[in-house]
Order: sequence, then C-alpha cells, then structure tokens
Amino acid sequence: MPSLKLENVAKHFGGLKAVDKVSMEVPPGEITGLIGPNGAGKSTVVNMISGVLALTEGDITVDGVSVATDRADIVARKGVARTFQNIRLLPEATVLDNVMIGFHRREEAGVLAQMLGLPAARRDTKRFEEKAWDLLRRFRMEDFAEYEAGNLAYGHQRRVEMMRAIAAEPDIVLLDEPVAGMNDVESDELATIFRELADSGMGLLLIEHNVGFVTRLCKKVYVLDSGRMIASGDPEAVVRDPQVVAAYIGTSGH
Ligand SMILES: Nc1ncnc2c1ncn2[C@@H]1O[C@H](COP(=O)(O)OP(=O)(O)O)[C@@H](O)[C@H]1O
Ligand SMILES: [Mg+2]
Repeated sequence: MPSLKLENVAKHFGGLKAVDKVSMEVPPGEITGLIGPNGAGKSTVVNMISGVLALTEGDITVDGVSVATDRADIVARKGVARTFQNIRLLPEATVLDNVMIGFHRREEAGVLAQMLGLPAARRDTKRFEEKAWDLLRRFRMEDFAEYEAGNLAYGHQRRVEMMRAIAAEPDIVLLDEPVAGMNDVESDELATIFRELADSGMGLLLIEHNVGFVTRLCKKVYVLDSGRMIASGDPEAVVRDPQVVAAYIGTSGH
C-alpha cells in the first residue's frame, strides 16, 4: 500500500500564505490527524492533495510518484479519495445511487458498455450493487437505501459521502471534518469504522476540530496554524505543546 507525502507544499492566495511550506506523510494502515484552528489551512491542504487547487510551491507524491499537477479525476484514479467539509451529494438521488457513483473509478466494463447494456457492464452493475449493500450494512444505513439523500439528517448525509468516497477502495482517504455536527454516539460509530479501514491497510487523513477525538484515533498528529506546521508527532505530546495550546486559546468552541 502506498504512502502519501507532501514536501514543502505552499498555497498563496494573492498575498495570503494559506499554506506555507508544509511537509507531512499519510502512511498506509494508519489514521493520521491534521488539526488546527479555523482558517489554519487544513481544507486548502486537502484541496491541493485532491487536485482541486493548484500548488504554489512544493510537491505531493503517492508511492513516490508526483501527483502535484494532476487533475482531480486523475488523483482519484490513482487511489486518493476525499470527502468535503461541505457535504456534496446528489440530493435528489437515492442513498444507494449516491454510493454507486463511488464505484465509477473501478468501472471495468466502461461507460459505453453500460449504455449499450452489454453483459460485462450488467455484471459490473450487479457486483457494485452487492458491494454497495455491504457498505450500507457496515455504516448501518441499509434502512435508508431508497431514501432521497437530500432528505436525510446531517449525520446520515455525512455517512453517505464517506461510503461514496471509500466505495472504489482507495489507498488513501482524506476526511475533512467528517464528524462535525454529529453527537458522541454517532462519532464513536464512525471512529470504529475509521479504525477498521486503517486495519484493512488504507491510509486515512483525519481533519478534525475535536482534539480529543483525534488524540484517541491517530497514531500521529500534525498541527497547522496560519498556514504553518507548528507541531507534529505523538498526539498526547502534541496537544500539550505550548505553541499548540496557544494556537487554540480563544478558538475552543469552533
Ligand atoms: N479559494 C480561496 N481564495 C482565497 N482565500 C482562500 C481560499 N480558500 C481558502 N482561503 C483562505 O485560506 C485560509 C485557510 O483556509 P482553509 O484551508 O479553509 O482553513 P481551515 O480548513 O483550516 O479552516 C483562510 O484564510 C481562507 O480564508
Ligand atoms: Mg476547513
């Protein structure tokens, strides 16, 4: 399983250094945390990795190969999936269909074959449907399969987004505040799923405001503040780092 690496990555928006020479690694089989106050640059990091935003400087590699100039669809095909801080679903499609969209990357028979209804495509569809049901069960969402995604409660919409992101069995998944707005029971259920995904070999990057949640789940944590990496390492040590404590003062509640 490949590792994701950022080397001296920067993103400038005009005069603003939203991300300033950041280096980090998301190894396989682990949950890596990225924390920091609002506006620290966390989502910008995810947007650069996933090919949504171009880098100003630096390099991003997957398995040692640069993906820094790849478009979003290419990065996805290379095994890097993501969720969005602001949920993006097809609100009028069913939960099942939203999950099915996630299989697109591994679609073996191809879109044309599907349109023509060729047997290989029908086999793919059937196989994907079975896999989609596996995911729905794993996320305890099978009762909602035929619901319109847009009508679901917020926490359930987040689950749909996550199922879609991992449907294609990515090597690396970037989760931008996946438990925001969830209660403790819901976030604990997701924590269990995150651990299972990491145990299966996937590399997870978990962006989160809730420091306790990250500390419990992550092997290593990186801390961004105003675009700069101010600390990294063992979660217990990082959250006691005076610079990190200072960065969070006055921002608790976010
Ligand atoms: N597309 C953009 N254009 C201009 N400024 C942006 C853009 N995206 C983010 N920013 C700015 O970059 C900084 C980091 O934002 P963001 O990455 O969203 O932070 P975080 O996710 O840590 O809250 C903020 O000051 C934000 O206003
Ligand atoms: Mg953000």
